[in-house]
Amino acid sequence: MTPSFDLTALSLSPGRSNPCLAASAALLNPAELIALEQLSSALDAMAGSHPGQRARRLDIALSHFAAQTDLASLLPRQHRGRDLTAIVASSANAAPGYQRHLLLADPQGRYSAVAIVWEKDQYSPVHGHHTWCAYSVLHGALSESRFDWCETTQAAQLGAAAARLPHEVSYTDAGLGGIHRLGNPHPAAAISLHVYGVSGASVSTAVNHLVAVHT
Ligand SMILES: [Fe+2]
Repeated sequence: MTPSFDLTALSLSPGRSNPCLAASAALLNPAELIALEQLSSALDAMAGSHPGQRARRLDIALSHFAAQTDLASLLPRQHRGRDLTAIVASSANAAPGYQRHLLLADPQGRYSAVAIVWEKDQYSPVHGHHTWCAYSVLHGALSESRFDWCETTQAAQLGAAAARLPHEVSYTDAGLGGIHRLGNPHPAAAISLHVYGVSGASVSTAVNHLVAVHT
């Protein structure tokens, strides 16, 4: 089951100087917003560069962003009672309610950036990707399980698992070469930032390639 998005929350904020800033950027504090503006500039530059430079540029941009902020303003307890424009997603094999916040949406549809807040025991589905993507943990820690695609069984087989800590950047191209499952097994909430090669309006349908898992 593909995590669902409330697409009504994906509209760009009117009147903002940077047309890439999405509505959820309004949740951030000034320092976080400056870091996001810098990330937007770096992604604009990346989008205009040779695709062969993409992974390296994303590594630099996300490393820089993670060094500037952990996006703690997005932690749920700090928004209790507020009118969140957060996007609440759930999936068949994840605890309900993990939140995805669309922060950047390139008007040309070349990229989008989504922050995810993971509470304890919230996990993504096992998935490959329809597009390139990169992510970095900003706050807390995540666990990532990798899977290998088996053509014979047409299913993913569990491989290695590893902790993902702040400031690490992971990148994968589109396809079934980067099947994984992310989640938070820890008591404390975690926050990660994900950059995808699709428009903001397409992140719910054009990123994750859900796959069967060999049992
Ligand atoms: Fe992924």
